[in-house]
Amino acid sequence: MNRPVSLVVAGAGQRGTGYAAWALRHPDRASVVAVAEPREVRRAGFAAEHGIAAGHAVAGWRELADRGRLADAVLICTQDRMHTEPAEAFAALGYHILLEKPMAPDEAGCRRIVSAAERADVMIAVGHVMRYTPYTQAIKQVVDSGRLGDVTSVEHLEPVGFWHQAHSYVRGNWRRADLATTMLLAKSCHDLDWLQYLLGGPPRRLSSFGSLTHFTAANRPDGAADRCLDCAVEAACPYSAPRLYRDLLDRGRHVWPLSVVTDDFTPTALEAALREGPYGRCVYACDNDVVDHQVVAMEFPGGVTASFTMTAFSDAARRKTRLFGTRGQLTGNGETIRVYDFLTRAEQRVPIQAGAGGGHGGGDAGLMDAFVAAVAAGDPGLIRSGPRESLASHLAVFAAERARLNGTVETLEELG
Ligand SMILES: NC(=O)c1ccc[n+]([C@@H]2O[C@H](COP(=O)([O-])OP(=O)(O)OC[C@H]3O[C@@H](n4cnc5c(N)ncnc54)[C@H](O)[C@@H]3O)[C@@H](O)[C@H]2O)c1
Repeated sequence: MNRPVSLVVAGAGQRGTGYAAWALRHPDRASVVAVAEPREVRRAGFAAEHGIAAGHAVAGWRELADRGRLADAVLICTQDRMHTEPAEAFAALGYHILLEKPMAPDEAGCRRIVSAAERADVMIAVGHVMRYTPYTQAIKQVVDSGRLGDVTSVEHLEPVGFWHQAHSYVRGNWRRADLATTMLLAKSCHDLDWLQYLLGGPPRRLSSFGSLTHFTAANRPDGAADRCLDCAVEAACPYSAPRLYRDLLDRGRHVWPLSVVTDDFTPTALEAALREGPYGRCVYACDNDVVDHQVVAMEFPGGVTASFTMTAFSDAARRKTRLFGTRGQLTGNGETIRVYDFLTRAEQRVPIQAGAGGGHGGGDAGLMDAFVAAVAAGDPGLIRSGPRESLASHLAVFAAERARLNGTVETLEELG
């Protein structure tokens, strides 16, 4: 294909806008020709930025699908519970699909998406952006090279961070499993998917523990109000909403997470959002139910073991990983990778290729780069997070959640 890949966007929220911005930076490779977004301010801003004709900026994904196939591919960036139906509809129209994770909140939804893609013979790239970072590629090369010998166990930590947890998983869109998904699916499907990618396949057995212990009414401090702006003890609270969002506004940082709270970056608009909207609520007086810490223990083929921890109670930092092999140990902190060799007893730093930078350690740009290249070349091999491997890692997440809820050890069958 010699012309730029044409794209339509379903859901011009945080993610849809971010992926589409890649096309603005690479006009020779992709262009956005239509958008579906119900929020008028967002839709108009997005349409103006991408030079989309008025008739091609519509309020919902169904309206977009009703117009038939307008482009080579669609970016489906609607909320978690709104992925299956658009994926089926756009696949049936012949669109290749970049689908945000999670594919769907349950196994049946994920399987419907895989079937729709296979039936229509279209490509799907799931938003497992961690597979596309230069950091991950460097670790994968070390593992595949055999330099560590046989990897026997893995220790992986996701420090979600105290303010990120409060923003997204206590006050925000992913606070409740019935409105979005479980914490493990919303946040840590990336991690289980990443471990599967590094170790070459999904786990066979899983167990899990975790709960919501802190962000509950029982931990509400004496004197706390329902909203931070009215709270007498706000100054002593690490989870203060005004402190988090005003600081970003004061520094002119009109980006996530402030951009989720308000579209209008003025002190008055922020004040109103904190007084009336969800993000000004006391973290001990929300309607949240997702866990604030969880562990998953996994056994991979060949007896390889892995432990995964997600916790709210950390600095919002990069994920940290140790891989233990029979000839060496790899330590990664999201930025640097070191390998200790048992034979030489020397430690070496592993070079990481310079990437495009940007969201998720360059993973957002890496995914767009791979997806657009795959569509341009008609080559699904360029996609590292296709429907089958993503289904496998989603099934591991569902199994881990069953294990946590039921106190079981879950066994995963090989995907048929
Ligand atoms: N890959 C990642 O690392 C990553 C990170 C964050 C979020 N996500 C996922 O991306 C998805 C979107 O998250 P977000 O943070 O951009 O959310 P968001 O709420 O900012 O964006 C969703 C957008 O969809 C729009 N929308 C609602 N109904 C619609 C309809 N009928 N048709 C078209 N658009 C509609 C909303 O108005 C909103 O603008 C979620 O599934 C989320 O879990 C992935």
